[in-house]
Amino acid sequence: MNAVPQNTSPLLPIAMLAELTYRCPLACPYCSNPLSMSGRSSELPTEIWVDVFRQAAELGILHLHLSGGEPASRRDLEELVSAAGEHGLYSNLITSGVGLTEQRLGELKRRGLDHVQLSIQGVDHATADKFSGYKNSLARKLAVAEWVARLDIPLTLNAVMHRQNLDRLEDTIELAVQLGARRLEVATVQFHGWAEQNRGALMPTREQVRQAGEIVRAARERLRGILVIDYVPADYYARFPKACMGGWGATSMNVAPDGAVLPCHAAHTIPGLVFENVQERSLRDIWEASESFNAFRGNEWMQEPCRSCERKHVDFGGCRCQAMALAGDARATDPACSLSPLHLDLVAAAERDAASQETELVYRKLTSPA
Ligand code: SF4
Ligand code: FES
Repeated sequence: MNAVPQNTSPLLPIAMLAELTYRCPLACPYCSNPLSMSGRSSELPTEIWVDVFRQAAELGILHLHLSGGEPASRRDLEELVSAAGEHGLYSNLITSGVGLTEQRLGELKRRGLDHVQLSIQGVDHATADKFSGYKNSLARKLAVAEWVARLDIPLTLNAVMHRQNLDRLEDTIELAVQLGARRLEVATVQFHGWAEQNRGALMPTREQVRQAGEIVRAARERLRGILVIDYVPADYYARFPKACMGGWGATSMNVAPDGAVLPCHAAHTIPGLVFENVQERSLRDIWEASESFNAFRGNEWMQEPCRSCERKHVDFGGCRCQAMALAGDARATDPACSLSPLHLDLVAAAERDAASQETELVYRKLTSPA
């Protein structure tokens, strides 16, 4: 990486994604975790996470997303939730539900857990099992949702949608309503991490994406006041890219299980970036002055057509990790943008993948023993 522009007064972050562990009982073929991940031995111990939460609160962070892997795989999850509450952080448990019991959820609530975000991989047993790599996963998730409702913890359902389940989007929305979720995240698969290995099996067709947009629009109208639907559309068929992360190093930080601090979950795919560790440097220092957080702040780093584009303050040139993956240059305009010289190639590749007959999946796995 070349010398990076220094931004002496970055905005304050509002959210932290704390990836407590990469261990997970599920094996989703679109997991955004790195292709190469290590197990329990490299995870931060409880006391360091507690200190990270203290530093996060001091830095002005409000939302703490406890994630993984599966955060319930951590035996100290209860202590970590208590620490989040003590530091005034709003805690959201991002979970597959596996590893939770009603009693454990009750204890987490008693210790201050504010919110649960539960993933579902399908609305029928066969699809749910296939895309979680876990037997009877749907039954488990329905039970967890019931416990969450009984405990009166606000629930968000998260559904990653792709070619093999987009045709059940209406049923997915219906399930969210039945389960009493206040929010549904409909996230069209993003091709980072393991999803990239499964493009042929997961890429939706243009027609599916068009229909999904209509279904979400109609459901938002119909369910106003009942269910909020957040929709992450497939940007490979769109005109402009998404404003990934709300801009690089602008609103949030990710802490990996080993304490490395990243501006986004896929930043490790950008060669040359070095990620500082909370065990060696303070969170504030990393946020304000580290090379990785400053690499794509502001717009000095941009190339044409972004540099002279009026939308650069809206989408920040798209996603840096996608630019790296598809253009081979993290400073390039995200090829999802119709103004990128690579856009037509991207669309052609997406259409090729969408037409694939591939249904077999490469499942997520740890590369070293947990
Ligand atoms: Fe956004 Fe860059 Fe495309 Fe303009 S050229 S719309 S700033 S990605
Ligand atoms: Fe890294 Fe978009 S995922 S900037």
